[in-house]
Amino acid sequence: MGRRKAVYTMKLEDIDKSCVPAHVAIIMDGNGRWAQKQKMQRIMGHRSAMTAVRQAVEAAVATGVKYLTLYTFSTENWNRPQDEIDGLMELLIKAVNDETKTLMDNNVRLQTIGDIGRIPERSRKTLQGCIETTAGNTAMTLVLALSYSARWETAEALRTIVR
Ligand code: IPE
Ligand code: MG
Repeated sequence: MGRRKAVYTMKLEDIDKSCVPAHVAIIMDGNGRWAQKQKMQRIMGHRSAMTAVRQAVEAAVATGVKYLTLYTFSTENWNRPQDEIDGLMELLIKAVNDETKTLMDNNVRLQTIGDIGRIPERSRKTLQGCIETTAGNTAMTLVLALSYSARWETAEALRTIVR
């Protein structure tokens, strides 16, 4: 229940900016279980998670984090019921459309990692549009890991080394 409530144990002004990590990564989990506990459909848990995402992004910008990576959708998640996958891909479009202005206002640049080629075209194009719109922003980079896997990350690291 309390999971969705913002529990700030520290005031932003009390955080020593010199101790803030440059890169923070968050693995999103528990949306479905949270929704089921509230007797709601799983997709409602994913929708509700947007509030937590917004708070995480705002807190990261405010404390001076340079990279915030959100592990959003793994390659294993492609095995979920098609309805849930469709709902998540639609939510991605809605979230990007709703939040692009906030990203601009906060000088946040969007990027993605993962096997983006597997993301349905409409969702991918929406993401691409936001990536282009926010490309010049410099306060923080928000990285969405989509269709991510350890295998993809290892292969990408090797490709980078080879380059
Ligand atoms: C995280 O929540 C979001 C995604 C993986 C898309 P889950 O969907 O993993 O929620 P649980 O773990 O089933 O409760
Ligand atoms: Mg899970």
